[in-house]
Amino acid sequence: MEINKVAVLGTGLMGSGIAQVCAQAGFEVMMRDVEDRFIDGGFRMIRKSLQRFVIAGKLEEEKREKVIGRIKGTTDLREAVGDADLIVEAVPEDMGLKKKVFKELDELCPSHTILASNTSSLMITDIASATNRPDKVVGMHWFNPPPMMKLIEIVSGALTSDETYETIRDFSIKLGKEPVPANDGPGFFTTRYISFYLAEAMRLFEMGTAGIKEMDDMCKLGFGWPMGPIELVDFIGLDTNLHILEYMHEETGDPRYAPPLILKKLVKSGYFGKKPWSKGGFYEYFGISR
Ligand SMILES: NC(=O)c1ccc[n+]([C@@H]2O[C@H](COP(=O)([O-])OP(=O)(O)OC[C@H]3O[C@@H](n4cnc5c(N)ncnc54)[C@H](O)[C@@H]3O)[C@@H](O)[C@H]2O)c1
Repeated sequence: MEINKVAVLGTGLMGSGIAQVCAQAGFEVMMRDVEDRFIDGGFRMIRKSLQRFVIAGKLEEEKREKVIGRIKGTTDLREAVGDADLIVEAVPEDMGLKKKVFKELDELCPSHTILASNTSSLMITDIASATNRPDKVVGMHWFNPPPMMKLIEIVSGALTSDETYETIRDFSIKLGKEPVPANDGPGFFTTRYISFYLAEAMRLFEMGTAGIKEMDDMCKLGFGWPMGPIELVDFIGLDTNLHILEYMHEETGDPRYAPPLILKKLVKSGYFGKKPWSKGGFYEYFGISR
């Protein structure tokens, strides 16, 4: 199946980046959020990211405006998805919300439209059960920041068709990404693997084993990681990390995924990490300079 028109739901950290990548690859994109201020925030993030490409000499000034011109923002769901071939959903990591959104999409989208979720952890089979087209529901798991990270983990639910998988694989390649398949399950491969490392780093901090910056420095200097675990938690978003760990813990019963108390405290205090509307993350709360 040919993808021409794309709609992205959610204009936060991930949705804005996903819309940008699609527009940079030449696709017309509708970007939908629930309030104009979130859409404005999405456009600000896109402009900032494109500016970095211009400064690095990877994008010409006049092309930047063309890329932005391919993206249209709206709060009207019907307008956003009515003639889309592909929806990429990037709303918060909450199963109830995702199912509600997918049910609405199933009712509003043409019958050929593929409904992809950028969920980090929630089972695709479960999300698909809210629709009458589970064969056209798939996980398209992007990485942060979408314009920079090469991987797209494609997650097939129990009823995802081969045609849907192949369409998303081919589309990801057109975007310049490297798709890798994974099977459905809580956290698929990537999140199941990384999230207990991140939880463990927070727990080791709580136990007094090492400081935040010290742990990050050790992972960067000793393991060659580009970013330490607490920096990564701040970058992903503390609220997103908490949602993921709660879901992983509930689904697997594995205590390694139990959300650390410090993470709960920070989220309840308005520390969501490096998001435009947040007070900051671990570094800001503990007054550590980056
Ligand atoms: N942050 C990461 O590093 C990362 C990486 C991979 C995947 N993800 C996944 O991507 C999804 C979004 O995460 P994020 O970090 O971009 O979150 P975010 O909080 O930055 O953005 C979510 C956006 O969705 C909007 N929204 C809420 N309900 C909506 C609706 N019904 N329709 C349209 N928009 C709606 C919110 O207003 C917000 O702007 C989550 O499922 C998350 O697990 C996140």
